[in-house]
Amino acid sequence: MIVTTEQLFAHAYGKYAVGAYNINNLEQTVGLFRGNLGKSKSNDDPVDPATSAPFILQISRGARGYSDKRFLEAMIRTADEIFPESVLAVHLDHGTEEACYDCIESGFYSSVMIDASGEEFAKNIEITRRVVDRAHAKGIVVEAELGQLGGVEEDIVGSVSLTDPDQAAEFVERSGCDSLAVAIGTSHGAYKFAGKQGLHFDVLKKIQKVLSEKYPLVMHGSSSVPQEWVERINNAGGKMHSASGVPEDQYLPAAKLGVCKINIDTDGRLVWCAIHRESFRDDPANFDLRPPGKIFMVAYADYIVHKNKMFGSAGQLELVRKTLK
Ligand code: G3H
Ligand code: 13P
Ligand code: ZN
Repeated sequence: MIVTTEQLFAHAYGKYAVGAYNINNLEQTVGLFRGNLGKSKSNDDPVDPATSAPFILQISRGARGYSDKRFLEAMIRTADEIFPESVLAVHLDHGTEEACYDCIESGFYSSVMIDASGEEFAKNIEITRRVVDRAHAKGIVVEAELGQLGGVEEDIVGSVSLTDPDQAAEFVERSGCDSLAVAIGTSHGAYKFAGKQGLHFDVLKKIQKVLSEKYPLVMHGSSSVPQEWVERINNAGGKMHSASGVPEDQYLPAAKLGVCKINIDTDGRLVWCAIHRESFRDDPANFDLRPPGKIFMVAYADYIVHKNKMFGSAGQLELVRKTLK
């Protein structure tokens, strides 16, 4: 069932965060749906109430342009049919104004992100307000961003600028956005926290304080970049040195301070890369794409279960469903 992020955040606020996972292809989609239902090995496994979770499936502009965006939409509709117990929001990640309008008009997305964080404060508000007006007219919710993360965001290499808590309330009020992505020390990609480790909880606390009650915050660049997966990649011929991510024990404290959505893309890529490298290393005569694909879908589903446990969303699916009726 496709719902808005607003419906998910209303249940999660202050207790846990909903995982927002980027997908690009079929194997990621299957692994993601299975993992959020606590199914690992096959689509026909029973749903596991102890680990099943609501989730956000997010699609970047890069993913939409990888082949044809209609393939992604068709795949997600089909997954929603094959896994009818799922509760998810379908979200555009880091949209331009144009991409947001395209998704709003498509009738398929329940949530869009307008990322005008590279613009000046007033311009960011102006652009976000236009998108909010168009989206709300169609019942779609909008995430906006204030402040700038480090690392690579789509095709832009960003310079870090933490969200200014003094600007946050005015931004939300004037733009009308439904959730706010904040820069509190994370960055996109596999090489985070060069020099300094951890999130700026002091900034997060201040942002939570100035916003209205239960206003949902979003954390981008939140992959934990597990050393286990980095080592597996390197042991299978990869060259990823000094990779690091957000310590997983910081997710729940962030959720308690109003972070309702935690974005994960890089970790999924690491799992994909390790499995495929290992598979071709261990069976060099193989040239069939399906053996690594099968292993990946199981491994990715297991990884999603693990991540949802760290977010506190594992086991929440039935409780959320009750709030939707
Ligand atoms: O925040 C950016 C996401 O990780 C999307 O990455 O543009 O390579 O799909 P992508
Ligand atoms: P990571 O690169 O840490 O996975 O962040 C993903 C993200 O923020 C997508 O918008
Ligand atoms: Zn992001």
